Amino acid sequence: MYRHLELAYLGIQVPDPAVLTPFFGEVIGLIPGESVSPGALTWRNDGKAHRLFVEAGDANDATLLGFEAADDASFDELTERIRAAGTGILDGDASVRAARGVERLVSTPAPWGVRVEIVTGLEDAATPFQSALIPSGFRTEGVGFGHVVFATTAFEESHQFAVDVLGLQQTDWLEMELGGGMVLEVRFYHCNERHHTLALAHAPFDLPQTLHHVMFETNERDDVGAAFDRAWASGLPIPNGLGRHDNDGMFSFYVGSPAGFQVEIGHGAKTVGEEWDGNRSYDQISAWGHQPLRLA
Ligand SMILES: [Fe+2]
Repeated sequence: MYRHLELAYLGIQVPDPAVLTPFFGEVIGLIPGESVSPGALTWRNDGKAHRLFVEAGDANDATLLGFEAADDASFDELTERIRAAGTGILDGDASVRAARGVERLVSTPAPWGVRVEIVTGLEDAATPFQSALIPSGFRTEGVGFGHVVFATTAFEESHQFAVDVLGLQQTDWLEMELGGGMVLEVRFYHCNERHHTLALAHAPFDLPQTLHHVMFETNERDDVGAAFDRAWASGLPIPNGLGRHDNDGMFSFYVGSPAGFQVEIGHGAKTVGEEWDGNRSYDQISAWGHQPLRLA
């Protein structure tokens, strides 16, 4: 199985972490993880101890992105590349490693504004994952907990960091005319069989949040439909109703979280391999659907 890195966890900082509890627990269908530090909440979408850290703070954005290396050798190789890149590297001490529930950890700032942590040995939860709201469970085995998409003005620098430092491969890219001379440009990157683990959108100016969305993939299509019903009933924004993306083929919808960033729930995306010859441009986000249904 092709597996260089997996998305291990995402850290989000909001003024009041409890504000997101009904959203993650009752709309998305995640389950609470163990508490790792006072005032912070964690969430799971599989058998790992935690996949989301929600901490109290002023950022109101993602602050942390964890990637788990396939093994010690790839951890060492990646650490060397970070050192050589000169972006600055910190060794995680015992307290940081304990808080994240990992064996090894180094971190460096990413150009799009989050701290990237490279880890090994992300610990398992004490109990199996079971969500009454997502009976099929989420697809995470060998592909990480989902994908994340950030918008950044530091687009080329971020691309170089993703490819040359983290060693991600570009899967494909989107270049779409928006009218008025505006072009939407998004690049998609893989590091395992998931079509993209990271995508970067070229922001024309600094936006209030760099995190555009985090995606969770269900094992069965019906769980996407049921999640859509819950999102609709919640009254939250639905920036994109059900549809299918053109490049990864994912059937999904997007719901706006109470903190602003969006969550995509999807199923059935195509997978990629280490030898990938599909790196081409797309000129539309979706083959069909994804219409704006209810905006904030
Ligand atoms: Fe997505």
